[in-house]
Amino acid sequence: MKEIKKNVYWVGKVDWEIREFHGAEYSTHRGTSYNSYLVKDEKTALIDTVWSPFGIEFAEHLERYDSLGNIDYVIAQHAEIDHSGALAELMEKIPDTPVYCSKNGVKSLSGHFHKDWNFVPVKTGDKLSLGRKELIFIEAPMLHWPDSMFSYLTEENILFSNDAFGQHLATELLYNDLVDQAELFQECIKYYANILTPFSGLVEKKIEEVKGLDVPVSMICPSHGVIWRDDPLQIVGKYLDWSKNYRENQITIAYDTMWNGTRTMAEAIVKGIRSADDKVAVKLFNISHSDKNDIVTEVFKSKALLVGSPTINRGPLSAVAGFLEQIRGLRFKEKKAAAFGTYGWSGESVAMISKGLEDAGFALMGSGLKATWNPSEESLKECHDFGKEIADETAK
Ligand code: FEO
Repeated sequence: MKEIKKNVYWVGKVDWEIREFHGAEYSTHRGTSYNSYLVKDEKTALIDTVWSPFGIEFAEHLERYDSLGNIDYVIAQHAEIDHSGALAELMEKIPDTPVYCSKNGVKSLSGHFHKDWNFVPVKTGDKLSLGRKELIFIEAPMLHWPDSMFSYLTEENILFSNDAFGQHLATELLYNDLVDQAELFQECIKYYANILTPFSGLVEKKIEEVKGLDVPVSMICPSHGVIWRDDPLQIVGKYLDWSKNYRENQITIAYDTMWNGTRTMAEAIVKGIRSADDKVAVKLFNISHSDKNDIVTEVFKSKALLVGSPTINRGPLSAVAGFLEQIRGLRFKEKKAAAFGTYGWSGESVAMISKGLEDAGFALMGSGLKATWNPSEESLKECHDFGKEIADETAK
């Protein structure tokens, strides 16, 4: 329990161990935290809880420092179980306590827990008085679930933003100004790229809506990672940048290879790009040997993506097929792409990758490049030329 403002406490859990999140869909190299907050006034409100495996510890911790019976209101801003999981334990002990959540929150909490808790559905603008202070609720549907919402605490001017503005970073330091800034922003952009990219249009609108409220913000308290107390709106500015089809001067090349033929092509393409443009950052990833979420983060930062695979059983290698499926769901916009790969006899992979890239929303730069067997000197020259064309095309 840590006091972050007068009578406002962080009561979450730092999870140093976790390395996979959302099943195995999201890598958490630096762990995470499940941030829960206790706001005391004439009435006491608990905002969000922690993931289920820490439910008993969470309830015992609250009981030790304060009586659970003192909690007058539970605010469930989001039903995903990394934030609602401990409700199962908690509500056993305080079963009649009202649970404030969005209308969709009632559905998703009921769907997870199958309990007839004392739900109080709220909508944007609804207020809950705690005494001197008030909580004002702001629905944030699809950021990133239909039920997601924020809460704003008057007097202290704190925005509790749930998943938004969060990052998977375990730290005991708690605040944004105390942690390594490179690590922090790496985790922030990875979080945005992998989770929020499909909802970028909504991110921009929601930020404009919150800015339109014209309320002071002294702190942003997300449900993962650090609390933004030093220049808290800096992360809002980053989100605005990232929501507008973000691109840096970068090209990412992601491939898989069987006997190094496609890798050799990739490296020859890089040389071609570099010969035409010595400023652009080019990053290569063997998909099978790289973290998929780290590759997605680099794709997010890129103006173009090249994907390579040899042909096996009339298609691309399975890791490449999985990668294409992953980026299809993220709905990147305003990025260019092309395919390449080796083949022995049928050679379908390049056309299939091109189709996958197009389906994922990328603008194709041509029909791709194929090379037979182990690329010859002539094939490598073609790769070099292909790289130069890519550089020219992406420089436009
Ligand atoms: Fe951190 Fe959508 O849960």
